Amino acid sequence: MNYNNLNIKFDGSLAILKINRPKALNALNKETLTELEIAVDDLNNNKEIKAVIISGEGKKAFVAGADISEMKDMNVKKAKEFSLLGHRVFNKIEESNKIFIAAVNGYALGGGCELALACDLRIAAETAKFGQPEINLGIIPGFGGTQRLAKIVGKPQALELVLTAENIDAQKAVELKLVNRVVETDQLISEAKSLAQTIAQKSAPIISLAKEAVNFALEHPAAEGSKYEANLFSSCFSTLDQEEGMQAFLEKRKAEFKNE
Ligand code: CAA
Repeated sequence: MNYNNLNIKFDGSLAILKINRPKALNALNKETLTELEIAVDDLNNNKEIKAVIISGEGKKAFVAGADISEMKDMNVKKAKEFSLLGHRVFNKIEESNKIFIAAVNGYALGGGCELALACDLRIAAETAKFGQPEINLGIIPGFGGTQRLAKIVGKPQALELVLTAENIDAQKAVELKLVNRVVETDQLISEAKSLAQTIAQKSAPIISLAKEAVNFALEHPAAEGSKYEANLFSSCFSTLDQEEGMQAFLEKRKAEFKNE
């Protein structure tokens, strides 16, 4: 499929998806979000793919937010539709059986920070900047920022970002545990690929169960989480890859997972 605002490249079991509106600092308009939804659906259905890296075209921005020129004249109904579209797409990323890695190459503001937050792992270039500047526009975050940010960095830090609109640099983002790590800017994609490749060597169904179990922890009390984990843990024992993983360990060789 040809996209107007996305570039997607495939590299074995990895996909590298770049938001491609560099003149607007990759701002998310409706068309881009709609294309992103189609792309995420396609990737989720692609059995060859285990991990997806999301980044932004150009040197300046990952994504500088939702498209302000498109939002400017929205009424309440249109704004709700726009917000729900963003939520739907980002939820598909969060609930995907693939691992999504945000490779943040510059500004990740507003909806851009929210896109990164919906991914499972985040790697930042030294030049990356994060923030939720919506309050300066007379709005609040609308693509899940208030919810995911509070879960990831905690209420005080989330509120400080949302209420002050101040940007933080990559180093501060690591301190807040908003990103996994910071890397040299020109190493960003290779570092993201190396992380993705490490994960891609594991078994696809087990990767997916691990993500599902950890996601569950963020939404449920510990007692429910324990039961859920026990169910997912035991379901691993219905896979060929569990047999192979343990057999390979005992034979002192590397496991050759069949993703079954
Ligand atoms: N929407 C639409 N266009 C945007 C944009 C956005 N979010 N961010 C940048 N652009 C456009 C600019 O309008 C400009 O276009 P023109 O060249 O046609 O004038 C172009 O991208 C380059 O931007 P700047 O000239 O502003 O670049 P800069 O280097 O001076 O500043 C910046 C960079 C600090 C990121 C600045 O562009 C900026 O503050 N952008 C807006 C950030 C923002 O407020 N994001 C939140 C949006 S609201 C949201 O996301 C809601 C939600 O949760 C759903």
